[in-house]
Amino acid sequence: MNDKQLVALQAAKYVKSGMLVGLGTGSTANYFIEELARRQRDEGLKINTVASSYVSEEYAKSLYLPTVTFDSVHTIDLYVDGADEITPDMILLKGRGSDLVKEKLLAKAATQFIVVADASKLVNHIGQNFSIPIEVIPFAWQLAKKSLEALSGVGHLRPNEAKDDFWMTSHGSYVLDMKFDKNLSVRDLNTMLNNVPGVVEHGIFLDLADATLIAENGAVIEHWI
Ligand code: A5P
Repeated sequence: MNDKQLVALQAAKYVKSGMLVGLGTGSTANYFIEELARRQRDEGLKINTVASSYVSEEYAKSLYLPTVTFDSVHTIDLYVDGADEITPDMILLKGRGSDLVKEKLLAKAATQFIVVADASKLVNHIGQNFSIPIEVIPFAWQLAKKSLEALSGVGHLRPNEAKDDFWMTSHGSYVLDMKFDKNLSVRDLNTMLNNVPGVVEHGIFLDLADATLIAENGAVIEHWI
């Protein structure tokens, strides 16, 4: 069993019958979905799920997990998702995929948000390994980029996989991948990005995680706030 699988199984232990569970996106989240399906089949676990992406929703359905539509949800019991970077104080960078908006909505709506990852995701500060993904309204991207550059942002629109057009998120936004002045605190940066017109959402997840489950060399370390 690999480390991502290990943390996913550990997180699944927090799922109880009757819960509405938010499903994350990515390889670690997929292991979590598989374990929920196994527990439903072998242990009679009775849950509903809501997915943060079309891919996760289809995967859950293919494993016979019941799903509810995103717009029917006003609160969820538990959200389990991976991350791209995790700081010691549980600030996350997310959004290498296409579903930043739904991911942040579920993280905010959840009574508990558990982050699952292997130790490769641990960083000292946000932006250490990746640029900050910033979803922008397509027609506003030039104006939003100019505002972000005034905040020290340097970066570009994410290209699609074929490199013949821009990447579009499932929400219909473009993504600006940007780096910012290292002296800016992540809290200040978070506030600044929240206030840029044309920005739909961004990848800094501040004060949203309740726990991190990190696996390294076959052992899981849990941190709860
Ligand atoms: C998706 O947008 C990201 O926030 C994912 O949570 C992240 O990329 C984790 O993916 P893995 O579990 O595959 O590492």
